[in-house]
Amino acid sequence: MKAVTISNNGGPEVLELKDIQLEEPKSGEVLIKNKAIGLNYIDTYHRSGLYPVELPSNIGIEGAGIIEKVGPEEKNFKVGDRVAYASMPIGSYATHRIFPTKKLVKVPDEIEFESVVTLMTKGFTVFYLLHKTYPVKSGETILFHAAAGGVGQIFCQWANSLGCKVIGTVGSDEKIEIAKNNGCHHVINYSKEKFSEKVKEITNGEGVPVVYDGVGKKTFDESIECLKVRGMMVSFGNASGPLDPCNVAKSLAPKGLYLTRPSIAHYTSTKHDLDEAAKKVFEMYISKRFNLNIHKKYSLNEIVKAHQDLENRKILGPAIIIP
Ligand SMILES: NC(=O)c1ccc[n+]([C@@H]2O[C@H](COP(=O)([O-])OP(=O)(O)OC[C@H]3O[C@@H](n4cnc5c(N)ncnc54)[C@H](OP(=O)(O)O)[C@@H]3O)[C@@H](O)[C@H]2O)c1
Repeated sequence: MKAVTISNNGGPEVLELKDIQLEEPKSGEVLIKNKAIGLNYIDTYHRSGLYPVELPSNIGIEGAGIIEKVGPEEKNFKVGDRVAYASMPIGSYATHRIFPTKKLVKVPDEIEFESVVTLMTKGFTVFYLLHKTYPVKSGETILFHAAAGGVGQIFCQWANSLGCKVIGTVGSDEKIEIAKNNGCHHVINYSKEKFSEKVKEITNGEGVPVVYDGVGKKTFDESIECLKVRGMMVSFGNASGPLDPCNVAKSLAPKGLYLTRPSIAHYTSTKHDLDEAAKKVFEMYISKRFNLNIHKKYSLNEIVKAHQDLENRKILGPAIIIP
């Protein structure tokens, strides 16, 4: 089998495609032949060392494929099942992999592998952000950063289907139309404009009840300014760099704000939560409540370029890897 590995933390150049000995699945595990692999921003954090992993390490958290072997006494999965995953153990950037069955979901026949590797991380994230972390109400105006990105495109369509008015930020003019086409009602180019001023203008000075912020360092303080009294700051990523320590008295106290730093793992760690998320996300997708516009497909040989494009903000929507 072939797998992408890292021996050191660093830039995209530390990603190496290597030949690796295929192992046998143990009890509670299966061997999956990957058909499609998710490209997620979190993979860059594992690679750079922002989120530490033990080295040397394989890389990638999301994949989908067909079971080729099952471990001893396996009762829930069989050879030939179509399955997908989006969690640790790390190592989805590979032609094959061993994976624990307790974190696997079966993929409905209606959903292609290329689609499900966008749903497992990005779709599940949108589900928990909109339904669990801050359950939005129809008619609310909400703010989402990097609205033309992978998570962003699904978020804007899903929020729209729930009756929300979405204010989205983007980093360049070419992304304005993309965000609008995905259901953003107001798009702000935050490379050119102070988004907090635009948000106040759009909300008649009131502010928004929730900000979903996956950009992090660059947007945190200004996002706090956009919130109304008792609003919720949902900091779920750090594409522009890790956050500085939060000064509670300065940032939260003046408006009695809530702050949360959620991760997909907090919302899918039990079988019940994982199955609930899968059911809801797959139903929403199958019933066409949102579309996936896969911007780019990379091969495992192009993995360095894939990470460069992601970090250089060149990917206009979800991107995947085909092994
Ligand atoms: N907590 C969770 O459970 C969870 C799960 C999935 C994803 N996430 C987070 O959600 C965010 C989006 O993930 P994604 O995979 O869909 O990526 P993405 O949105 O496709 O790419 C990240 C985007 O962030 C924006 N950005 C702003 N400043 C940046 C900078 N200095 N460098 C690079 N990008 C910058 C860029 O959009 P503009 O050019 O428009 O600014 C870029 O396209 C990431 O922070 C990721 O870690 C969190």
